[in-house]
Amino acid sequence: MEKKTILTGIRPTGGLHLGHYFGATSNWVKLQDEYNTFIEIADVQALTDNFDNPDKVRKNVRVLTIDLLSVGIDPDKATIFLQSTIPEIAELTVFYSNLVTVSRLERNPTVKTEIKQKKALFGEMGESITYGFLGYPVSQAADITAFKGDLVPVGEDQLPLIEQCREIVRKFNNIYGETLVEPVAKLSDNKRLKGLDGNEKMGKSLGNALFLGDSEEEVNKKIMAALTDTNKIRKDDPANPEVCMVYYYHKLVNKDNLETVCQECKAGKRGCVACKKELIKHMNEFLKPIREKRKYYEEHPELVDEILINGSKKAREIAKETMKDVKKAIKIDYFNEKEEI
Ligand code: TRP
Repeated sequence: MEKKTILTGIRPTGGLHLGHYFGATSNWVKLQDEYNTFIEIADVQALTDNFDNPDKVRKNVRVLTIDLLSVGIDPDKATIFLQSTIPEIAELTVFYSNLVTVSRLERNPTVKTEIKQKKALFGEMGESITYGFLGYPVSQAADITAFKGDLVPVGEDQLPLIEQCREIVRKFNNIYGETLVEPVAKLSDNKRLKGLDGNEKMGKSLGNALFLGDSEEEVNKKIMAALTDTNKIRKDDPANPEVCMVYYYHKLVNKDNLETVCQECKAGKRGCVACKKELIKHMNEFLKPIREKRKYYEEHPELVDEILINGSKKAREIAKETMKDVKKAIKIDYFNEKEEI
């Protein structure tokens, strides 16, 4: 049986943090063995709300690629490519835009939430939503279908975007004939990771994230400042580990000793400082192989570029094939491929 194709994407707006790792990328590392895997660095999508800050997007393309490689994405198994190098995605976006109403985009729950966040951040300014931003679900449908993605591994917040893509595909196939693959969302079981401050979400903009690229000193500083049970005043007060972020992260990187951590905390036999120091040790151990790989790629930037270039070339070949099928279906293949213009 032929391997199914997985397509996923990530915006280059910052480095990966533990939330990305446990929520998504560690899963991609497993999936790359089983599926024909494509990972898109979505720089064009990142520009939809960072068009006025191209330096940020540019810088993070390589940061993110190195992050992906250092957590174990293997370029021999998975194709890492850059969205802006595939003009067919932009072309498909134009054709798909006829199949989507503006009100449907405005009702997309993911877009709605993001518009709300913009309004909260920028007040009146947030009211002015660009055409490009409103349309990014259409462009994301192009990302997925250009590579004939069967499955899209995403978090829950992205489900409305996959649904929107499926609607576009159905409409396209209905009008123009069976051409595009209708993708299915592959929800990861991994839950969203809480921040160091106890916030439900770890996020760069929330200032509560531990980055895979953080140094030992940064890890040390951040964990020492992490939220613990606020009712615990003295070192030998019994406490509730379930409300403590330090215990929460012990669960991720110190599984073997978890029972002891929990019991000692509840019994007041474990001070927070000692508990944090133990977590710091385990966190640094967890990050060690990731840091080693990062160092290697940082010292070989030409290799990182080569991976991106080769991945993009490979991805483009597939997008070109899809484009041919699409043009034929829409009856704009005027010269039957005889002429390359
Ligand atoms: N919108 C996704 C995010 O913000 C990134 C993304 C771009 C994506 N293109 C994609 C995800 C295609 C899945 C499939 O995380």
